Amino acid sequence: MITSRRQFIQSAGLAAGWAMLPGLALAGKSDDGFINLIARPGEMPLLGDGKTATRIWGYEGKSPGPQIRVRQGEEVKVRLINKLPQPTTMHWHGVRIVNGMDGVPELTQKAVPPGGRFDYVFRAPDAGTFWYHTHNRTWEQMARGLYGTLIVEEKDKPAFDQDLTLVVDDWRLTEEGQIHEKSLGALHEWAHGGRSGRWITVNGAHRPQIAIRQGSRVRLRLVNVCNASIYALKLEGLKAHLIALDGQPVAPRDVSDEPMLFSPAQRIDLALETIADHQGKASLRSLRRDGSDELAGFVIEPSSPGATTRPGLVRLPENPLSKTISMPDALKVDVKMEGGAMGGMRSAIYKGRKLGIDELIQNKHLWALAGVTGLPEKPLFSAKRGQSVVLNLINATAWPHPMHIHGFHFRALERNGKTLATAPWRDTELIMPRETVSLGFVADNPGKWLLHCHTLEHTAAGMITWFEVAA
Ligand code: C2O
Ligand code: CU
Repeated sequence: MITSRRQFIQSAGLAAGWAMLPGLALAGKSDDGFINLIARPGEMPLLGDGKTATRIWGYEGKSPGPQIRVRQGEEVKVRLINKLPQPTTMHWHGVRIVNGMDGVPELTQKAVPPGGRFDYVFRAPDAGTFWYHTHNRTWEQMARGLYGTLIVEEKDKPAFDQDLTLVVDDWRLTEEGQIHEKSLGALHEWAHGGRSGRWITVNGAHRPQIAIRQGSRVRLRLVNVCNASIYALKLEGLKAHLIALDGQPVAPRDVSDEPMLFSPAQRIDLALETIADHQGKASLRSLRRDGSDELAGFVIEPSSPGATTRPGLVRLPENPLSKTISMPDALKVDVKMEGGAMGGMRSAIYKGRKLGIDELIQNKHLWALAGVTGLPEKPLFSAKRGQSVVLNLINATAWPHPMHIHGFHFRALERNGKTLATAPWRDTELIMPRETVSLGFVADNPGKWLLHCHTLEHTAAGMITWFEVAA
């Protein structure tokens, strides 16, 4: 007879040495109501317990950093303390935040120097799965581990038995298990698909195992914090309903048999149910051309005696988004995406000057948006507050790009000329090679906002611009 969780896991055939899913430490408040987050070097056992620890940079020295949980509408107060050898900032990815707290160096604040600090104070209007990360030398600082999750809880908590956050990262490590420094900033990755790594972790552990009970209902919040890796995810041995994307609820849909594209910066919230009588193993997998890899495993334990199963769907309450895009008076902006290997870009404007491709390469500026590489001095466009905006993104490159807009959620209105009636509200949209996608949103949040590719090497090499919404 199985008497304990431990025994059950052993009986499920798991070899010794398999890690259980590391929980994410919760951020605690100090007396003045602030959550202190020290950005500093630290060590993480990425290769597993008992192996050499990897020297990382993390919030509180951990990667992922502590999880911040707040209730919808509640004030978030975070004091960033920089104990890194470089300036840094914090960006609250996906939060429709007040502009001054958006954490963008040059645009919304000065980067915090080593030894400095910055107080982030804001309210999160939407419930859902969000995350925070550095926004300075992001390609390097995020590759070293500077990110964490921000969970904004619904006012009425949906009925789940477990609420799990899974932060997916890929690491490029040396044989000694340390960050592969040589490839940081390498021109090759900047010109191609970005820097990725082969050692995949979930909450800092490789292929962790997650115990869930037969008949229970589990909320799974997946967060892709990779610099560049795009996954096609699939669940095996579990029933899954998609309930939210990038923090915004969607009408629940059974995705048990569908691969789900999962690009850098995106979030996928799933409601998991066990399949009747299926005990033992299930898994979250990433599909390859010729098979799949397990990212995390599930160990399904027998339900406790007397427990009732919880069938039926959970539908998340809507968030207070402005959803009416008014086409007649929308501001329409074409944004051609250019550059990269096999892209054929000849020239682009860099710091106000038109440069040919050789000079661009010398400056490591390899990608352009609307003819400009790097953060332009002038905004791409200026919108009136409350105006509808339609961005027509034309991917003229040979690469996919997860395009992210700060401060707003948008909806894809058209893909390759085909009208989309019910595309979800997102903050990061994956645009495939040669695709044209138009994104619509209501510019109801004043300030200076970024539009950039979230493949961090592409951002660094120029695929970044900004726009303005009048106060
Ligand atoms: Cu997640 Cu500009 O970033
Ligand atoms: Cu890109």
